[in-house]
Amino acid sequence: MTAAQEKPATPQSPTVDSGDSGDSGDSGDSGDSGDSVLSYLSGFGNHHSTEAVPGALPVGRNSPQKAPLGLYAEQISGTAFTAPRRMNRRTWVYRQLPSAAHSAFVPIGPGDLRAAPLREVPLNPNRLRWDPPPAPATPTDFVEGLFTIAANGDVEAQTGIAIHQYTATKSMTDRYFVNADGEMLLVPESGILLLRTELGVLRVSPGEIAVVPRGLRWGVALPDGHARGYVMENYGAMLTLPELGPLGANGLANHRDFLAPMAAFDDIAGTVEVVQKYGGALWAAEYDHSPLDVVAWHGNYHPYKYDLSRFMVIGTISFDHPDPSIFTVLTSPSEVPGTANADFVIFPPRWLVGEDTFRPPWFHRNIMTEFMGLVRGVYDAKADGFVPGGASLHNSFTAHGPDATTYHQASNRELVPQKIENTLAFMFETRLPLRLTSAAASAAHRQPDYDAVWQGFTKDFTG
Ligand code: FE2
Repeated sequence: MTAAQEKPATPQSPTVDSGDSGDSGDSGDSGDSGDSVLSYLSGFGNHHSTEAVPGALPVGRNSPQKAPLGLYAEQISGTAFTAPRRMNRRTWVYRQLPSAAHSAFVPIGPGDLRAAPLREVPLNPNRLRWDPPPAPATPTDFVEGLFTIAANGDVEAQTGIAIHQYTATKSMTDRYFVNADGEMLLVPESGILLLRTELGVLRVSPGEIAVVPRGLRWGVALPDGHARGYVMENYGAMLTLPELGPLGANGLANHRDFLAPMAAFDDIAGTVEVVQKYGGALWAAEYDHSPLDVVAWHGNYHPYKYDLSRFMVIGTISFDHPDPSIFTVLTSPSEVPGTANADFVIFPPRWLVGEDTFRPPWFHRNIMTEFMGLVRGVYDAKADGFVPGGASLHNSFTAHGPDATTYHQASNRELVPQKIENTLAFMFETRLPLRLTSAAASAAHRQPDYDAVWQGFTKDFTG
């Protein structure tokens, strides 16, 4: 528990962490949306208490006969009531109107959003790669700009993931989103995301990530006027920190660097739209008030963000490239020990010092399926063709590894200590093969000649 949690945190409380990404390359707190006053609560999965108005949070009980300040008390359960204590996630909110106060949801068009199980095209055994998606032709908000690339598992069985990219050019105003199907891991590649959630505001720059739990109402504002990035929609077990094993008590992503929002609320009148993703489809309902009307909350089911430059990178100091699991930031476990429903893995700036070692990632085939994206710079296993905003998919057991140019350079270079700078690639690794949407399979920005990356190898066997 942080000092700020000994009493409910208010906006007047000391800033826990500004959350600015030291490595993000963006302009920092530029006053684009008043974010310079944003404060956060620190700690992964912590039980936080925060109130936007002093006295809004009841003391000593969750549901008094009358909640303070005329507010309504409501519990949001992210796990079953009886989930083991170490896994149990729930938050109590104190809001201006019950979230039940809305009209019926009606189906709306899904746009380019799809859900598992996908059966539009056959499972593809080829290596696949895409250029960045094109900018939308008309003003497009975050929800309208979601484009599903692939999915596995089953949304109704709460297993597997969907992978989307977003391209947005318009802030969500009088429009909110809620995803009952999965938590959403957001990886911005271009443009700041201002996530306005029921539990407060997160400002997320490229170089940072955010996770919004399922069932929470939120909207996305774009201080830069545009945004592009990646989404892993996790149908399965909630993302958590990986075990550290022999690494010990510290390293990789550290608990205290995960930041939750402080309570903040809208107080507006008028009709707004809430778009809900439910069972893979989109539904919409009209509200006569903002769903972001929570004045105080306490609990451990909340959105959070994390600055990827805080990740403590582990690598060899002798020889051989370790398995990429050492780069795991967050993991969604499955019922099979050590076999993740999905891992979020990053390849950040780091030193390479291995001796008599092929330093880039080696050639391999993997039962796990690997989707990769690039936030900035160049990925050390691909010299060309994999650019920020682009993507690659190496499905289960597809053969891949460094391209020929990278292989020849890495096989012949002098192995002095080398720092890989200005790079941030990431991987969504998942235990089930990913099936494409037909839109992703036939997209104009899909590269038709990706296999050529592995041309140009010579047979140098001397035996
Ligand atoms: Fe791989």
